[in-house]
Amino acid sequence: MTDLRASGKLLLGLLLLETWIGFIHALIDREPVLHETSLLKPKVVIAVLARNSEHSLPYFLGCIERLDYPKDRISIWAATDHNIDNTTAVLHAWLTGAEHLYHSVHLQTVEEEDSYVDELGPKHWPESRFTHVMKLRQAALAAARAQWADYILFADSDNLLTNTQVLNQLIAENRTLVAPMLESRTLYSNFWCGMTSQGYYKRTPHYVPIRNWKRTGCHPVPMIHSTMLIDLRRSASAALAFYPVHHYYLWALDDIMAFAFSARQAGNNYIILISYITFLLTTVQYKEEPVLHVKRVHFDFKLETSSYLHIASKPKDTMAFNQVYLINLKRREDRRDRMLRSLEVLGIDVTLTDAVDGKALNSTQLRALGIEMLPGYKDPYADRVLTKGEIGCFLSHHNIWKKVVELQQQQVLVLEDDVRFEPSFKSRLNTILEDVKQSGLQWDLIYVGRKRLQIKHPEHWVEGVKNLVIPDYSYWTLGYALSLQGAKTLLEAQPLSKMLPVDEFLPAMFNKHPKEEYMSHFKQRNLKAFSVQPLLLFPSHYTGEPGYFSDTETSTIWDDETVATDWDRHHIRGDRSRGDKSPTAISESSPRDEL
Ligand SMILES: *[C@@H]1O[C@H](CO)[C@@H](O)[C@H](O)[C@H]1NC(C)=O
Ligand SMILES: *[C@@H]1O[C@H](CO)[C@@H](O)[C@H](O)[C@H]1NC(C)=O
Ligand SMILES: *[C@@H]1O[C@H](CO)[C@@H](O)[C@H](O)[C@H]1NC(C)=O
Repeated sequence: MTDLRASGKLLLGLLLLETWIGFIHALIDREPVLHETSLLKPKVVIAVLARNSEHSLPYFLGCIERLDYPKDRISIWAATDHNIDNTTAVLHAWLTGAEHLYHSVHLQTVEEEDSYVDELGPKHWPESRFTHVMKLRQAALAAARAQWADYILFADSDNLLTNTQVLNQLIAENRTLVAPMLESRTLYSNFWCGMTSQGYYKRTPHYVPIRNWKRTGCHPVPMIHSTMLIDLRRSASAALAFYPVHHYYLWALDDIMAFAFSARQAGNNYIILISYITFLLTTVQYKEEPVLHVKRVHFDFKLETSSYLHIASKPKDTMAFNQVYLINLKRREDRRDRMLRSLEVLGIDVTLTDAVDGKALNSTQLRALGIEMLPGYKDPYADRVLTKGEIGCFLSHHNIWKKVVELQQQQVLVLEDDVRFEPSFKSRLNTILEDVKQSGLQWDLIYVGRKRLQIKHPEHWVEGVKNLVIPDYSYWTLGYALSLQGAKTLLEAQPLSKMLPVDEFLPAMFNKHPKEEYMSHFKQRNLKAFSVQPLLLFPSHYTGEPGYFSDTETSTIWDDETVATDWDRHHIRGDRSRGDKSPTAISESSPRDEL
């Protein structure tokens, strides 16, 4: 009986078990096929080689921080040595602060020496320095390989990666070796289109069109350097080396040349250069003011320092001026921010002055201000009368002249808000002003930035003052120094009652306007005008470039709100808009000077 009951129980148990297994099977059968999770991003080592770059590093590291790429897929390999500045401390502070974000960080330093034994100066490249740089790059490469990284991104500490997408874009190119084209103030960049039979860099006809963004896309070139990405998953990458040099390599000891040679030997006989990514290469050097505005910088680019570094703000002053005025339209916040940030870095104390918004002025108000157009004035290129933007611009400058006289300010600097400063702007302008003072030169106005219109005849240098000329007919009012006497002279001409664009009025006042007819309305045309040469200010955007937008060219006719004049003067040569690039903006220079 008990046996029977026991076996009955067993049977029941087995039955239950079977049902249960069946149920589980059914469950498994019914389990839907789920989508896989996304792949993690490839592993990237960023190799940072820094030397004497205390000033550029906070910006450089700020750019690295802002790269749109998961930081836990990035490992930082940094090396620094032979410094005469605080580079090591800055790197160390950053790595300490940011370490927790990254997969790993590594810092290699040698502190004993601050220069190479055979080095003649900071710009001299003796063999030992080349060898050292090559060994460092090799060490970074070896470290990335040892970590089984997928990619290594080399980035020099004065190559500011302002494009946050650059790493993604470079990876998307799917090449063994690819570099983003670096923008700079000169023709210099991080690639060469040719190589001599001795393995040296050579400029070929392809270079300039690529460098000037006439030919965009990804181009094969024989040499790239400074900032570049290597795909370590590619078999050919195994043969890439900086040091020791390839055993067939017989040319000069040079990291760029030796690396290019190894790339060729690796059967990778073309290296790819992308030229559509906007980067900015600065020539930030020891004890030099950083160059903040470079043409064609990434559109929404803001130069900000790293959030992990505390940068003591620079002491600010107004230079040799009683006041530095910055004219800015309230609604152009973008320009204001950019200018204030630049002036902060330059250490210039500025007074923000609200520009008069020409668009907001109606005819009644204009009449109340006593504004009358100069009889017969026509814009020489667009064949139209004054725009409201031009009136607003004139009034903005006029207000400052009045202020200068009211406050009896001996000398001031007036800046518009769309300018780019030349390197060492402050010290160069200070030197000129000091020379002017020493020479006892009487002056009313000194252009710091302008557009020369008369270029057939050379302008005369001012005797006894370096870098100062007597200007001929010029446009623009980007920036100028004005003396008390200058302000008085301009106001005494009563320009509101015979208004011209302000940059036509100034040349009339120093008697250099080509139209006698316009000048005849101003009796005293003895404004003592000068101009710095080379110029120290340039427009931050030229016509047609991304970000170019003129407030004076795009507005309504002054006394008729119903006629909108969206002047497209982009294709008109020599107009007041910024169509012509300054011939000095791009010039050749020795590549090593830039490093
Ligand atoms: C060097 O940099 C570190 C870290 O940013 C800073 O704490 C230190 O004050 C700096 N020293 C000098 C002399 O600038
Ligand atoms: C990248 O290139 C390899 C071959 O070189 C190819 O197999 C692969 O499909 C490419 N990937 C993409 C995303 O184009
Ligand atoms: C012009 O603007 C002023 C101030 O905003 C306003 O009071 C006036 O009514 C306007 N006149 C016309 C004709 O729109």
